[in-house]
Amino acid sequence: MKINPFKFGTVVDDPFFTDRTVELERVKEILASNNHLAIISPRRFGKTSLIRKAVRESDRKVLMMDLQLINSPEDFAAQYLRRIYRLFPLERIRQGILKFRIIPVVSLNPATNEVDIAFEPGAPPHPYIEDVLNLLEKLASPGHRPIVILDEFQEIGRLDPAMGNMLRAVMQNHTRINYVFLGSQESMMREIFEKKKSPFYHFGIVMSLPKIGQEAFYEYVSDRLKGMTKNYRAISVSVVSFTGGHPYYTQQLAFAVWNILHRNPAAPDPVSEAIEETITMHDLDYERLWATFLNTDRKILIGLTRNETPALSAKFAKMVRIHAQSTIFSGLKRLVGKGYLIQTGNLYDFDDPFFRQWIIRRRETY
Ligand SMILES: Nc1ncnc2c1ncn2[C@@H]1O[C@H](COP(=O)(O)OP(=O)(O)O)[C@@H](O)[C@H]1O
Ligand SMILES: [Mg+2]
Repeated sequence: MKINPFKFGTVVDDPFFTDRTVELERVKEILASNNHLAIISPRRFGKTSLIRKAVRESDRKVLMMDLQLINSPEDFAAQYLRRIYRLFPLERIRQGILKFRIIPVVSLNPATNEVDIAFEPGAPPHPYIEDVLNLLEKLASPGHRPIVILDEFQEIGRLDPAMGNMLRAVMQNHTRINYVFLGSQESMMREIFEKKKSPFYHFGIVMSLPKIGQEAFYEYVSDRLKGMTKNYRAISVSVVSFTGGHPYYTQQLAFAVWNILHRNPAAPDPVSEAIEETITMHDLDYERLWATFLNTDRKILIGLTRNETPALSAKFAKMVRIHAQSTIFSGLKRLVGKGYLIQTGNLYDFDDPFFRQWIIRRRETY
């Protein structure tokens, strides 16, 4: 049986990874230097996939943590230390831990063969965060510099408002570690790395990850649809133009198109069919989502489905019948902040092209 050659949802590597040659080079160059790196893009643009690929192609030790799944400074320290245990010999770690100001309880979990770590709850976090971060620096050496990747870094403030300061204060003294911060909330990440008063101001090189170019994605899609139908070129063009080269949604749509062609190679319009199918599948989610929007936001979203009128123009304001530009502006900001819209320069567009289509359909059919 043939296997669908498209993949979406989780981290991708070859053979599902395409393009990004320039970005990969750049990331590798930075990691080979003494600099730190922040990669910023909306959700599902491929940050995690990119960094994983870059570090997989190196032979360095990598400590990776997703802050979405961490819930307190204590948890941060415990999870960090747990990952140090995966990288270095027990005895060296033990020597280091004996010098901690607060010694955690370390126990071997026989089910996973990994250590479980607990810091005394309620103890002030500064000392143990500092000790844990410094431990890695001590275990490292100039010839063996580990890479630390903190994914979804915009979550840092949720752990503790002082967390950013704590981390910066320690990390800035480290010379044997490259720190990499990935973040999906563009505005929050920019606050963290580009606002003068932020502890991470100018801490590392900030890189924005764009969508994958439509041309590059066309190659990837058409290569995989080639054997399915002689119409594969036109079909691939419609796929990438519908998604605008959004990494996740392009793979998702191509996946659905492939399935349709697999069932029926003579399907007359597999792209429209796949879009319909996907929208129907998510109908309930979209309906729930729609119910959460303020009326202003609904007007803006509907306006953005209508035509190419820039959202910050007087024409747009007139079209959506919102008289104050400032209302539109704050609505756009809110929608970008929540990840429903993507801002490129002065232009705003939907993150999810299927959601955009859902709005159009709903308004046409009722
Ligand atoms: N280089 C790539 N080539 C092809 N598809 C990609 C690429 N990067 C990401 N994707 C698609 O996007 C999805 C989300 O990627 P991910 O790395 O999890 O993004 P992020 O970390 O930015 O949220 C992947 O499951 C895959 O479908
Ligand atoms: Mg990610």
